[in-house]
Amino acid sequence: MRVGVDYYPEQWESSMWQQDAVRMAHTGVRLVRIGEYAWSRLEPSEGEFMFDWLDQVISIFHRCGIEVILSAPTNCPPQWMYHDHPEIIQVGPDGEPVQTGIRGHRCINSPVFQSYAKRITKELARRYSNTRSVVGWQVDNELEAYQCTCEVCREKFREWLMDRFDNLANINVAFGTSVWSNEYSDPSQIEPPGAYPKEWQNPALCLEWYRFQSESAAEFAKDLMITIRRENPNALVTTNTDIGRNSPDLYRLYRDLDIVGYDNYPPIELPENKEEHYSHAFYLDLMRGVKERNFWVMEQLSGPTGTWAPISPSPKPGQIMGYSLQAFAHGADVVLHFRWRTATKGAEMYWHGLLDHSGAPNRRLAEFSELCKTAAKLDGLENTYLISDIAIIYSSENDYAFRTQPQSPGFSYTDQLRSFHEAFSRYGANVDVISGMNDITRYKLVIAPAMYIYNKRVSENLYRYVINGGTLVLTCRSGVKDQNNNCVMEVLPAVFKELVGAEVTEYDPIGEKEQKIRDFAGNEFGCKVWCDIIQTTTARVYAEYNDSWYRCMPAVTMNRYCNGVSYYVGTVCDRDFYESFAANLMMQTGIPRLKGLPRGIEVTTRTNGNDEYIFFFNNSGSHVTIPLPKPMYSMVDSIGKAQLELKPFEMDIVRK
Ligand code: GAL
Repeated sequence: MRVGVDYYPEQWESSMWQQDAVRMAHTGVRLVRIGEYAWSRLEPSEGEFMFDWLDQVISIFHRCGIEVILSAPTNCPPQWMYHDHPEIIQVGPDGEPVQTGIRGHRCINSPVFQSYAKRITKELARRYSNTRSVVGWQVDNELEAYQCTCEVCREKFREWLMDRFDNLANINVAFGTSVWSNEYSDPSQIEPPGAYPKEWQNPALCLEWYRFQSESAAEFAKDLMITIRRENPNALVTTNTDIGRNSPDLYRLYRDLDIVGYDNYPPIELPENKEEHYSHAFYLDLMRGVKERNFWVMEQLSGPTGTWAPISPSPKPGQIMGYSLQAFAHGADVVLHFRWRTATKGAEMYWHGLLDHSGAPNRRLAEFSELCKTAAKLDGLENTYLISDIAIIYSSENDYAFRTQPQSPGFSYTDQLRSFHEAFSRYGANVDVISGMNDITRYKLVIAPAMYIYNKRVSENLYRYVINGGTLVLTCRSGVKDQNNNCVMEVLPAVFKELVGAEVTEYDPIGEKEQKIRDFAGNEFGCKVWCDIIQTTTARVYAEYNDSWYRCMPAVTMNRYCNGVSYYVGTVCDRDFYESFAANLMMQTGIPRLKGLPRGIEVTTRTNGNDEYIFFFNNSGSHVTIPLPKPMYSMVDSIGKAQLELKPFEMDIVRK
C-alpha cells in the first residue's frame, strides 16, 4: 500500500526541495502529488513554457526513490490569461464575474480556456510521458458542477436542452413553465437558475442545470485525459473529489477516468450525541462504489484544518495513522496526505499539513512515519478488494434534489443512507455504496433509501432483483418525482407500489418532533422527520406507529413479491431501530454477523480470492479488547494474536 504526500514545490525556495525529498524518503513517503496549482510557473507568459524547475523536482524525487503523480494545473490559470481573455472568467449566479485572485475561477466551458488547458496539459504530458517515475496523472482539482452563468455556459445549456428534449414545446412541458407564466417562445429565453434562493426556482430547471454542469465537468476531465493519453497511451488518469454542495454527479465524472480520487477529511471530534453519525467509512465505501473498484485518496487529513472556518482542533493521537488505515480498509490503494508542509503564505496558511510552519519535527509527522512503516508491511494487500453481501444505493441526483428541496426540518438524504450503513457496520459486514445502474444480483440485500427521482434503469434493476429472489429495502420519499424532478400524479410510492405491496395514503412531515413506532415483537423505537401513513395491499406489517392520529397504522412493511421480499420503511428512525432491523435482515438473508463488537469498532475484509485480511479499526475514544475466535497473524505487529488490544483510532489487520 502506498502512502505519500501532496507537495507544492512552487511555494518553497528551490533550495528546500532536496532537503524535503530526502526527509520524505527518510519518513517513508513513496509517492508525491505535485503541480495542480502551478500553472503560472509552468507557463509564465502566453506560450512560454518553463519545465526546467519541474524536471529538477521530479528528478530529485526520483533519486530519493519517490514516485510522482503529476497534475494538470488547470484549476488556476495564470493572471495573464484572465487579463488577455477576461471572457474565461466564471460568471456567478448573480450575473457578475467572480473575483479572480482566489482559485478555480475559470469557466471550463469556455473554448478559449479549454484550448489553453489542453495545450498546457499536452506540453506536460509530452515532456513527462517517458518519465518512469511519473506513475499517475491528476486532471484539474475538485471539479464541481459549477454555477457559471457566462454567455458560453448559457448558450451551451440551451443547445444541450434542445438536444435532449428535441424542441421547445417539450422543454416547456418538462419544466412545467405554465406555472407563473414562464413559458418559453424562443430558446434564447431559457436562463439558468440565478442567485435567487433555490426554493423559489423551478426544480426541473435546477436539476437540468445540475446535469448540464456535471456533464461539462466530466467532458472537460475526459478531454484532458485524452490529451494525456495521446502522448502516453498507458497513463493512469484520475481527478480528485470531495463531497460537498457543488459535487458533480460522481458516476458521470468518473465514467471515463481510470481511477476514483477522493479527498478524505474525516471528523476530528467524535460527536457526543449518539444519534449523530461520525464514521467516515460511508464516504469511503461510496467512493469505492463509484467505479465499483478500489480508489486512491488524493488528500488526507494531516493537521488542524482552517481556511473557511476558524481553525479546528488538531487530529488526536492515532487519527493520522488510523484514518489512513481506515481508507485502506475500505478499498483505497494509495493515500496521499495533504500536505507535507503547512503553507506560510496565501489563504490556506492555517489548513495544516504534517509539518507546521516551522518545519520542526512534531507529533503528527512521527505518527505519519509510523503509518508509512505499517503501510510498507501491507504491500501484498494491493491486489485485494472488498466483496460485500450488502449494497446501499446512492444517487448524486437525489442528493442534489434533496439539497434544493429539503422536505422537512431535519431531513437529510445522506443521513438516511448513513443510518443503514452504520447499522450494518455494527455487525462487521462489508457494505458497498453503489449507483444501482449495474448488475446488483450478486447482493443478498439491497437498501435503496429515498428513491426520489425516477431512474428507469435503477428501478428496473430493483424489480428484477426482487423478482429473482433478492431482499430489498425502500424508504419514504421513494417514487415521488419523475425524471424531470416533477411530482408524479400517482399514489406513492408510485412506481414501487407493486413491489412493496402498500400505498401511502397521506404523509406527515413532522420535522424534529420525536414520535414512536413499535415493531412486530413489541419493541419501541423513536422516529421523526417524516411519517408516511401506509395502507397495505399485499404487504404485512413489520412495525406500526405508536403515536399521533395514525397510531396503529403501519410504519414499516414487508411484502413477498415473486421470489423475493421488499420492505418499506415509511419514516426516519432512531439508531436502535436500524440496528435491530439490520440484525433481522441479516439473519433472514443469511449474512454472517459479528456479535458483541464494541461500539465504534469497524470491521471490514479485503481478499484476493484466496487469502482474507480482516481490518479492525477502533473508531472511538476508548481502549478496547476484541477476543478473536482463534489466534491470527497480525500484519501490523507481525505476530500471532489471540485477542486485539486497540487504543483509540488504532487499526489491526489480521490474516484469516
Ligand atoms: C481541497 C483542495 C486542496 C486544499 C484542501 C484543504 O478542497 O483540493 O487544494 O484546498 O481542500 O483546504
